[in-house]
Amino acid sequence: MKLKFTVYLFLCMLLVISFSCKTKTELKQKTLPVVGLIAKKAMVVSARKEASKIGVAIMKKGGNAFDAMVGTEMALAVTYPFAGSIGGGGFMVYRKATGETGALDYREKAPLAATKDMYLDKNGDVIPKKSQLGAMAIGVPGTIAGIFEVHKKFGSLPIEEILNPVVELANKGFAITKKQKKRFEKYKSLFLETNQDTILFAKNYKTGDTIKNKQLAETLKRIIKNGALEFYEGETGKKLVERIQSRGGIITMEDLSKYETKWRSPIQFKYKNLSIISMSPPSSGGICLTQIMKMIEPYDLKKYGHNSLKTIQIITEAERRAYADRSFYLGDPDFVKIPIDTLISTRYLYSRMDNFNFDKATLSSEINCGMISGYESDETTHYSIVDPFGNAISTTITLNGAYGSKLYVPEVGTFLNNEMDDFSAKPGVPNMYGLIGATANAIAPEKRMLSSMTPTIVEKDGKLWMSVGTPGGSTIITSVLQTILNVKEFDMTMQEAVNASRFHHQWLPDIVIFEPESFNNDLLNSLRQKGYHIDEEDSKIIGKVDGILVLPSGTLEGGADKRGDDTAIGF
Ligand code: DON
Repeated sequence: MKLKFTVYLFLCMLLVISFSCKTKTELKQKTLPVVGLIAKKAMVVSARKEASKIGVAIMKKGGNAFDAMVGTEMALAVTYPFAGSIGGGGFMVYRKATGETGALDYREKAPLAATKDMYLDKNGDVIPKKSQLGAMAIGVPGTIAGIFEVHKKFGSLPIEEILNPVVELANKGFAITKKQKKRFEKYKSLFLETNQDTILFAKNYKTGDTIKNKQLAETLKRIIKNGALEFYEGETGKKLVERIQSRGGIITMEDLSKYETKWRSPIQFKYKNLSIISMSPPSSGGICLTQIMKMIEPYDLKKYGHNSLKTIQIITEAERRAYADRSFYLGDPDFVKIPIDTLISTRYLYSRMDNFNFDKATLSSEINCGMISGYESDETTHYSIVDPFGNAISTTITLNGAYGSKLYVPEVGTFLNNEMDDFSAKPGVPNMYGLIGATANAIAPEKRMLSSMTPTIVEKDGKLWMSVGTPGGSTIITSVLQTILNVKEFDMTMQEAVNASRFHHQWLPDIVIFEPESFNNDLLNSLRQKGYHIDEEDSKIIGKVDGILVLPSGTLEGGADKRGDDTAIGF
């Protein structure tokens, strides 16, 4: 009996010990930081594992971040036709190991035959979908010119050495992920309708099936042989123009041959001890990011806490004011005069928040663009790379909507963009992202449409600290903003910062969108009581951020957004 009791006591003790151990471990696990991939020397974070792998293999061979960019971008064109493509355009911001910074604009341009009212009917109303679907939506693509320009200026390995593995990837194929399969299904009917025929991506695929894009492999081989001219003046260009015109589009060989990239000075500004380098117009990204960050700088977000009521209010109100300015002042700098110095000046920005208080939301109807005196109005996937030499790049590329215009060129193996929708088809009429524009972003031949893409590099105390960016249309700017703040103000790791729940506001419509089931009801109700219009149900994913953070030890931490198939690879 005594023995039995002792055994029983012993078992009870064991149970108590194991239970307390378990709870301790669980507690510990809850508070452990979520850390992304750590690498010593170099890293690529992109929307697809295959693309990150190709970029890293190039750097392992001795190539630099710019060589890796060329390989990664073309590998995305193969494996991620949702946004990666040779039929789109983008922006790249770089910071070399020497501290030199710069930016390349390879944004699409309006065709020569484009006109201000090309998307309006005879009553002056916007014709639904004309700027979004099919051949009329396409801007002159800049991607191939962009990668060749980067390679010419900064590349170190021969182009064939960089692109041969991509040709091999297109020939061997890539496995369809679960998310990708869903997207192919979702857009299948639009593919068939737009192309009036079936296309490679309109078949009934299962997760894990392999897609080989032999036509794209052949196109890339011709591009390796003949350079960028193959796309703009050669057989590839002719095939593109034939297809576009046969489906009612207006792009000509002259449009292609006149396309050129532009090196631009990035927008640079200080936020506390950070120095932020981001994309200048024709992207609104850098200017809006500056405006929002400068407006929030005087507030102690750290004290208020991540996604707290006050933090959300401050960020929302700063966004409201920045997006109001965006809609009026911003457009292609080669066509319109933008008062950049004033728009990003600390004095102007601090004064923009004068009419904000914590008690009540400012109504968007009470906010207009700021008055700037002396100014005469004349009117998406992202990847980040850091190489072993310390060079960093941040690149965001896009077809605009999912699979762009949905028009596919079978002989070339690519979708074409619908970037024309980023113009303001009519002042005050929202585009597919709900963004409103004015004369500054009106359509004109050879003009570049205003973008929200925000490829960004951040220095801390004068040293490389972060490369970051995201797709997401109008939500790009606010997603990049929140990711930087998450690390700087709320001490998150890079991985936690990209995974954290996000919200977004853009002046008009006067609503704040929240990622569903990510914010508690009490918080949302408090915001409602203060007069904020909340939209949780309709909001989809806000951004899909990829970034690299340089840790104090000098090693790199990757942040690959959990919302996609994004992958960090490094060595
Ligand atoms: O340039 C822009 O702002 C848009 N064309 C970006 C589109 C985008 O991010 C689509 N991704 N969800």
